[in-house]
Amino acid sequence: MAEQTLLEAFNAAPYPVTGSSKWNVNQLLEAFQSADGEQDSDIYGTGKIIEEFQAKIAAFLGKPSAVFFPSGTMAQQIALRIWSDEAGNKKVAYHPLCHLEIHEQNGLHELHHLEPVLLADKSRTIGLADIQQLEEQVSCILLELPQREIGGTLLPFSELEAISAYCRERGIKLHLDGARLFEVLPYYKRTAAEVCQLFDSVYVSFYKGIGGIAGAILAGEDSFTAESKVWKRRHGGDLISLYPYIISSDYYFEQRLPKMEQYYHAAVELAELYNSCRHIETKPPVPVSNMFHVHASVPKEKLEQLFKGIYAETGVGLTRSIREVDEGNSYYEVSLGDRYLALPKVKIQEALELLDIRLAELNG
Ligand SMILES: Cc1ncc(COP(=O)(O)O)c(C=O)c1O
Repeated sequence: MAEQTLLEAFNAAPYPVTGSSKWNVNQLLEAFQSADGEQDSDIYGTGKIIEEFQAKIAAFLGKPSAVFFPSGTMAQQIALRIWSDEAGNKKVAYHPLCHLEIHEQNGLHELHHLEPVLLADKSRTIGLADIQQLEEQVSCILLELPQREIGGTLLPFSELEAISAYCRERGIKLHLDGARLFEVLPYYKRTAAEVCQLFDSVYVSFYKGIGGIAGAILAGEDSFTAESKVWKRRHGGDLISLYPYIISSDYYFEQRLPKMEQYYHAAVELAELYNSCRHIETKPPVPVSNMFHVHASVPKEKLEQLFKGIYAETGVGLTRSIREVDEGNSYYEVSLGDRYLALPKVKIQEALELLDIRLAELNG
């Protein structure tokens, strides 16, 4: 019999720590339990169900209008294309670890012939100085709040305001990759609209902290969103019906938006527990959202074995996957939701005490 994978061990653990629920069909069934079966479906981007949700999220983000997209990948490439066409400049700037650069198979270049300029370095977020030192003229700058691939780090709100003012003075459009925008609002102590008014266009996701099935909103001025609809059709994103995604996005948005503050405090608490373990450190040391990365000075395969043992002994599933940093180091992402809130504190303490002991044994 094949050895159990870490994912299988995680899925079998009675006390999973990360996420809000199992990633399965029940997510959709739950969202549809209270849905009205007589409600008309949306048809090619029109109809009450899609228009009402778009208007609701536009108002929440403080933007004149919004368009529902099947994916953030599609929405963001389109946003940058629109800003680039408007400026007649193919150059756009963003972080070297942003989603467009490392997870989209070069789509921005292959599909839109845009030319990315990388800002800052891989270890930190983009700051005002990086933008001031830009030698090239760019049509648009994309900022990701928080920067996921470095553990969900965030620049201070005052610096964000300064970046926005600087870009506006120079006619550079500012786009927000807000895949996890809802998750950082408690730390910033700002409304979504207060953050979004610093940006010309905004993308938010409904399946990260919100925990829906899939789906994204792209918001901005009316002329911008009208053009994004044309591109959505060109991309094949104008599905005849998107309501399964819309109903589930709306359902989980209502359920989980009010809990973002709790998820954030939970991440601060859990990171502190992790940081008390030997051979472990979190990035950032104190989280600013519901997420952080856990770095261990242990090779990936060894950590996986060790974790499977901990899951079996304590019933606590710490993570579903581990990534290699180099031969001797590994890390994983922690993103908290309903599961952590429901977890007995003694269980997580038990698991992390065991982790501390096992890591100390391993490292001699
Ligand atoms: C920061 C960020 N931006 C954009 C995306 C793209 O979202 P989608 O999966 O809806 O294309 C993701 C998805 O993980 C993301 O983490």
